[in-house]
Amino acid sequence: CGIVGVTGNSNAKDILLDGLEQLEYRGYDSAGIYVNDQHGDGFLVKEKGRIADLRALVGDEVVGSTGIGHTRWATHGVPSVRNAHPHVSANGRFFLVHNGVIGNFAQLRETYLQDVELKSDTDTEIIVQLVGKFSDEGLDTLAAFRKVLSLVDESSSYSFLMMDKEQPEKLFVAKNKSPLLIGVGDGFNVVCSDAVAMLTQTHDFIELTDGEVVIVTPDQIKILDEKDHEIKRKPFHVDTDPAAAQKGAYPHYMLKEIDEQPGVMRTLVQEYFDASGNVKIDQDLLDTLGQADRLYIVAAGTSYHAGLVGKELFEKLAGIPTEVHVASEFAYNPPLLSKRPFFIFLTQSGETADSRQVLTQVNEWGYPSLTITNVPNSTLSREASYTLLLHAGPEIAVASTKAYTAQIALEAILVKAYGEAKGIQKVKDFDVASELTKVANGMQELVDEKHNVEQIAKEMLSTTRNAFYIGRGVDYALAQEAALKLKEVSYVQTEGFASGELKHGTIALIEEGTPVVAIITDPKTAAHTRSNAQEVLARGANVLFIASRDLATDNDQIVLPEVDPLLSPLVSVVPTQLLAYYTSIQRGYDVDKPRNLAKSVTVE
Ligand code: G6P
Repeated sequence: CGIVGVTGNSNAKDILLDGLEQLEYRGYDSAGIYVNDQHGDGFLVKEKGRIADLRALVGDEVVGSTGIGHTRWATHGVPSVRNAHPHVSANGRFFLVHNGVIGNFAQLRETYLQDVELKSDTDTEIIVQLVGKFSDEGLDTLAAFRKVLSLVDESSSYSFLMMDKEQPEKLFVAKNKSPLLIGVGDGFNVVCSDAVAMLTQTHDFIELTDGEVVIVTPDQIKILDEKDHEIKRKPFHVDTDPAAAQKGAYPHYMLKEIDEQPGVMRTLVQEYFDASGNVKIDQDLLDTLGQADRLYIVAAGTSYHAGLVGKELFEKLAGIPTEVHVASEFAYNPPLLSKRPFFIFLTQSGETADSRQVLTQVNEWGYPSLTITNVPNSTLSREASYTLLLHAGPEIAVASTKAYTAQIALEAILVKAYGEAKGIQKVKDFDVASELTKVANGMQELVDEKHNVEQIAKEMLSTTRNAFYIGRGVDYALAQEAALKLKEVSYVQTEGFASGELKHGTIALIEEGTPVVAIITDPKTAAHTRSNAQEVLARGANVLFIASRDLATDNDQIVLPEVDPLLSPLVSVVPTQLLAYYTSIQRGYDVDKPRNLAKSVTVE
């Protein structure tokens, strides 16, 4: 979900709608805006579905210079107009949008709002109703807002943006755990949950810290700490080019982003190696990393899958024990830690609440951390000890593609820097820059042959009910990502399995015609995976072989260009991304915005 706000610009309505459109890619199911003029005459418009539908509802009569807007991804209450934000207090005075989850909303409703007739099923409405109630009881708006914040429990996450009809040019802002930025304009100011929403208005943003309350007017941004002392903070500059987030001639962002991967590999080589081929990574980071006795990679979704490959790289090349954890699991059930742990957060967006929860804990423990992210100044980047950027350019399609390959490539680069610093011979012999250049060429070959994959998707996956990906070692790690991609965009129930494990139960699901994709890139296990494929073939499965050139047979339908076996997921993932993409298109789905998914999940 996403938040936008503006004050002091007569074009408020368009700034809000354009901003919401920029956030569309994050996934949402309803949206709304509230706009008022300097006298507090306002308009509230909400709609289920797309921003285009909301825009169609916003008529010419909707004018004003201050406003707030929201895209909602349902947590409490179904997607509907009544549950869409902004929510309004019973006295009609306060309007609020919210990202996050209020843990104790039911208890707050019980305690304070028994006599208020609620208009929605959301936790958010409770907040604005409480502000209304405390204001009716005599508190001024800031005091009422603060009182409500103090009642919200520790487990809650929020970014709030609120308006008061009686102070029509003010925006009231507060956040805890969820991201929110103030954008600095000339004679106006904006608020947004992601800078991308407001890059057409400003490139200068002020970050907020949990616990602060901010009052934004057209010519002032007043940041108050918990004791109401004013804090001065300089803006940071974001120089992302808004045009980089355009689709150009491509029918969909996902296809564009798959095609961009060779370029991303080359950019990473340029960014992280100097002219004589030495890795350029902050010495301080390498010193700290060098002291660790164990690495903990923490991530969610596709980034977690990139972490599984990272573990292979760190352990096999550099010999450092590495664990990979799903962030939401680690957060409340951490494993026993080693004496000198070092944490690596893999996160495309840098905003995933599950990962952030772990980072907060790690900071409390006082352990060092690195965030590997695509978004400079994102929350996890700001809060970790170190950051390395993916330089993949904006990733707009909800299903992650180029961020995954960029994460793996950057893990390889980090292993190189780490191993060089430690004088590890195996790493010295591993020429990452030229291997990644080889990968880039290999990826290019694969994207150039995409129509081959389109045909296979049509024959094999366009009508199937389920599908399996199998592999061993890094091919198993890849199988899990390939399966996630297919299920995300085509809604085909898909599992990624360790090929040797299939026979211990899951093989019961194989029927005549069940699609099974076998990934074969590791010489050590190629023969084993092939015999596992035979086991399912014998039971009627429709098997697609994706194999490295040196391991391929004449019958393999997709042959991968040769790269170092440890980096093979960088090339083997490409046909699986294309399989997912084409299957979704053939089934008639909205491939860039799959149902129920959000690009950046800022709730736990
Ligand atoms: C969401 C997205 C996934 C993504 C995951 C982690 O669930 O839909 O595509 O992999 O979040 O996101 P992150 O930004 O932390 O990599």
